[in-house]
Order: sequence, then structure tokens, then C-alpha cells
Amino acid sequence: MVQLTLPKNSRITRGKVWPKPDGATNLRTFKVYRWNPDDGKTPQVDTYFVDLDTCGPMVLDALIKIKSEIDPTLTFRRSCREGICGSCAMNVDGINTLACIYGMDEVKGDVKIYPLPHMSVVKDLIPDLTHFYAQHASIMPWLETKTNRPAKEWLQSIDDRKKLDGLYECVMCACCSTSCPSYWWNGDRYLGPAALLHAYRWIVDSRDEATGERLDQLEDPFKLYRCHTIMNCTKTCPKGLNPAKSIASIKEMMVERSV
Ligand code: SF4
Ligand code: SF4
Ligand code: FES
Repeated sequence: MVQLTLPKNSRITRGKVWPKPDGATNLRTFKVYRWNPDDGKTPQVDTYFVDLDTCGPMVLDALIKIKSEIDPTLTFRRSCREGICGSCAMNVDGINTLACIYGMDEVKGDVKIYPLPHMSVVKDLIPDLTHFYAQHASIMPWLETKTNRPAKEWLQSIDDRKKLDGLYECVMCACCSTSCPSYWWNGDRYLGPAALLHAYRWIVDSRDEATGERLDQLEDPFKLYRCHTIMNCTKTCPKGLNPAKSIASIKEMMVERSV
């Protein structure tokens, strides 16, 4: 008989309720996913109480306060705290976002925080992005040129430079790819919205001379065509970018070059 078992870490249990800070009157409750690969336990959701009178307004401010004043074992990535590095991506109240630019006042009730969905977890709120970065590397995220290097910089017209707006701002946070159902089910072969947005960024760069090779690499039933225009990616992008549009533009270029 076939024996079906739930994958590792699929059962989440109630975790520890940490003590309320002494004397605080303006408390907010945080429910935070915890998992430690070294203790052999299933994941749990811990409850923390944060004094809003002594905390910044963003979700990341609260996490930093929890780590420094309540529970130093809580683990998450962060660096710039202003939406530039992309490292604090997590799921807040059901939305993939950057914790440093997501205000607590955008959440009603308890603030529920989980790692980005459908990724292996390294620990607590840290997803394993190894495969995500390998996919990024596969689209050759650099300028490919064949002509001789100019004495100074590679120049662009103002109009050509404008074509990169809405693309270069991507911080590789993975919020879009981890919100994409096609990426959940076929992430091993489908490149996902983040890598495809970057692929398009280099395809439309007027200075790049590898457009044909780039399109050849994407001409694949899985790498590109698993996008079914569900638009979760664009809806969730914390930088207001539109990866679905980039993917549609690549598909258009594929059609144009085949006729
Ligand atoms: S538009 Fe494409 S990439 Fe974006 S969520 Fe939908 S299937 Fe995924
Ligand atoms: S397109 Fe937006 S959500 Fe996707 S990786 Fe870039 S910044 Fe993050
Ligand atoms: S800490 Fe850098 S984007 Fe949030």
C-alpha cells in the first residue's frame, strides 16, 4: 500500500507565549513562525508583545526590538532597513513584502509573520534562496558585448535609458516568485517572475549585444511559458514593479522574431 506522509516541517504547533514587557500600556501582539533545524521539533508560532511607545513604525522595527530585548534567538535577514537590499522579505499578514517598509498600521489585529511561502526554511524567517539565485545567474545578469569596449562609458540615448525604468529597481527580494502559483509547482524549471524581469532588463538594454542568445535560452516550455498571467507577482511586489508585464513583453518578442 502507498504510504503518504506529510513533508518535514508541515505541521505547525502553538509555541511559547513570551512575557509582556513591564509597565507597557500600548502593546501589539506578534505571532511569529519559529523553526530550528537543530532541535528536532516541528515548527511553532511564538507570541510576543511589543511596546509600541518605544518601537519604530515598521514591522522590521518590531522584529529587531523582539530580537534585542525579548528573544535573541529569533532569526531573520535584514540589512539596509529602507527597501534597498531586499533581504528582509517575509510573509506579513498573508502578504509577501519587505518588513522594513511595511508599516505595522497596515495590519489589522495581531501581526502574523511567516517566512516566504513554498521555500525550504533555513531557520525561523530565513528561506533558502540558493535555487532562486542560481536561476538569476542563469539569465546572465550582466552586459554582454561583442564590439570593442569604448574609451569611456557605454552611452545610451535618453529614450533607451528610459526603457530600463521599472526594471533596474528590482531588489531581488523574491516576494514575487514566492507568490506565483506556477513557481510553487514548477520552480525547479520555471524561472519565475524575478529572474524573468531581470532577463527582460538585459534584453531591452540598448547596449547589450546578446539579445538573440538571451531569447534562445528562454525559448523553452518551462523556463518562460509556465507563466499563466495570474498576476500575483505584480500585486505583491513591494517596489511597485510589474514582472508580469516584463514576461508578456518577452513572449511578444518571441512571437515577433518567429514571423
Ligand atoms: S503573472 Fe506569471 S509570473 Fe506572475 S504570478 Fe502569474 S504566473 Fe506567476
Ligand atoms: S520584481 Fe519586485 S517582488 Fe520581484 S524580486 Fe524584484 S523587487 Fe522583489
Ligand atoms: S532591510 Fe533591506 S530591504 Fe528591508
